[in-house]
Amino acid sequence: MWQYQRSRVMLAAFLLLSFVTVYHLLPRTPESSDLFSSKDSSSISTVKRPKNPKLHLLLPTTSGDVNLCKTILSAKALGYPEPVILGWGGKFDTWYLIAGGSHVAKISRVLEYLESLGPEQDDELVLMMDAFDIWFQLPPETLIERYYSINERANVRIQKHMGKAAEIEGIKQTIIFGAGKRCAPNQPQTVACYAVPNSPVSDDIYGGNTDTIMGRNRWTSHRQRYINSGYIIGPAKDMRVMFKKAWEKVQSWPHVDEYDNGSGESGFMHHGSDQAAFAKMFGEQQIQREVLRRRHASTWTTKLTQEPSVLKIEGTEVGDILNPPFTHEPMEYVEGEIYEFGIGMDYSSDLGHQTMNSGWDAAWLRYDDPEDVFLNKTRKGRNDFDCKYRGDFKIPADMRLYDERDFLPEGRRWEQVNLYTHICMGTIPVMAHYNGDKKERERQWPQFWVQQYGKWIVENTEQYGGGRIGASIWKKDEQAQFMGWDTLCPAEYSKELYRGDNLALVS
Ligand SMILES: *[C@@H]1O[C@H](CO)[C@@H](O)[C@H](O)[C@H]1NC(C)=O
Ligand SMILES: *[C@@H]1O[C@H](CO)[C@@H](O)[C@H](O)[C@H]1NC(C)=O
Repeated sequence: MWQYQRSRVMLAAFLLLSFVTVYHLLPRTPESSDLFSSKDSSSISTVKRPKNPKLHLLLPTTSGDVNLCKTILSAKALGYPEPVILGWGGKFDTWYLIAGGSHVAKISRVLEYLESLGPEQDDELVLMMDAFDIWFQLPPETLIERYYSINERANVRIQKHMGKAAEIEGIKQTIIFGAGKRCAPNQPQTVACYAVPNSPVSDDIYGGNTDTIMGRNRWTSHRQRYINSGYIIGPAKDMRVMFKKAWEKVQSWPHVDEYDNGSGESGFMHHGSDQAAFAKMFGEQQIQREVLRRRHASTWTTKLTQEPSVLKIEGTEVGDILNPPFTHEPMEYVEGEIYEFGIGMDYSSDLGHQTMNSGWDAAWLRYDDPEDVFLNKTRKGRNDFDCKYRGDFKIPADMRLYDERDFLPEGRRWEQVNLYTHICMGTIPVMAHYNGDKKERERQWPQFWVQQYGKWIVENTEQYGGGRIGASIWKKDEQAQFMGWDTLCPAEYSKELYRGDNLALVS
């Protein structure tokens, strides 16, 4: 179970060893941070909340890259389980697919892995994520706590919105995707886009521009609510059902979609993109929820009052998702077919932040700065289209589920390192996902304390009880092979990985 705790490098312990005290050397025990016991009784949980959830960390990639090393290094520093690499060494050259088919292969490889897990592992959490553009900045305890709390809040909203249909039809959220501001690669007139529900986040985060096409570009002022498949987390059982359906979908897509906007691009996109498949499934799930909500609603009043806010797609009103006024793809609703997968969104970037059309929404901030200095940093390089800081200048309770001095350098507290912060939401995401300008991965790496201590972590993890560093190469029907750091991350990556900059710790 608590393998992620044991594997965390005791950085603080090492650094204190020579000077001060042995207090911090005491290893963390499971008893000292029993996350879930106090919450179990009070919360309205519709998702089973196991005591010590096991986490699988899946990274689909055919080959290595310096950016894979950043992901693995950050996972190691924060105590994540050893990553499992899927699809290693695979060749993708199907001419009519994006990246030769490597994006959709993500679906089949993850499905193979999920199918290899036994029924006793059904409740274990699986996190599938992009291998080249995501960094962890908070430990798995926070990730898991937020996974459950996001679902609990969503399930309260579902019950409120759907009335008795939620219970009768057994509708609940168990899977969370990253959220983006643009419905892509699907087109706005399709089920994948127009049926996507509103965000519960405040509708003025970008002032009067919110959810309009006014902004730095036509997407920047939208609240994030569209599927991004950069990270997906859910219980093995539900993930298996969802990935199976997605795999069926990508295999059966027509070459050109009937409801293409005339460019002919949709067929190509849908064949090549795993995100397109999940987006379509999310849209269909919402339409089915609306059909069922109406079916079980008793009077016209409930029917009318249960849709409070105006739904828009790129600034255009959708109206009734079962029949929008514009030219649209209708849903071929087959009675008895399964459209419910428990899919939901990480609306507030509690888990991660997608930088696409959203780079100005985040900054690396120090929580021990005086408020005026902190606010000054949130305004740097920004303009009137950008949001204002919405947080409370504090480290949230779910980052106090452990003693961070045990793994931050020099026994520091969270306030004493830079933290990647979503300015508009006031949240400190578990992950930063650089899916926008890819160069930001080089520009921002020195801001992160893991960069500065990377070399030390790699060289000392075993000696200080952090275990080995590397990844497990998993292939169907084969014994998983361990691949060590030196093979995955050869010496020529060192220049980029360990830059000797000091930005992350200096105030
Ligand atoms: C049609 O959709 C494609 C994406 O599939 C997009 O690239 C293109 O810009 C759209 N065309 C118009 C005229 O909006
Ligand atoms: C905020 O930034 C402005 C412009 O860079 C600077 O003149 C001012 O001194 C800063 N204030 C604080 C409190 O850091």
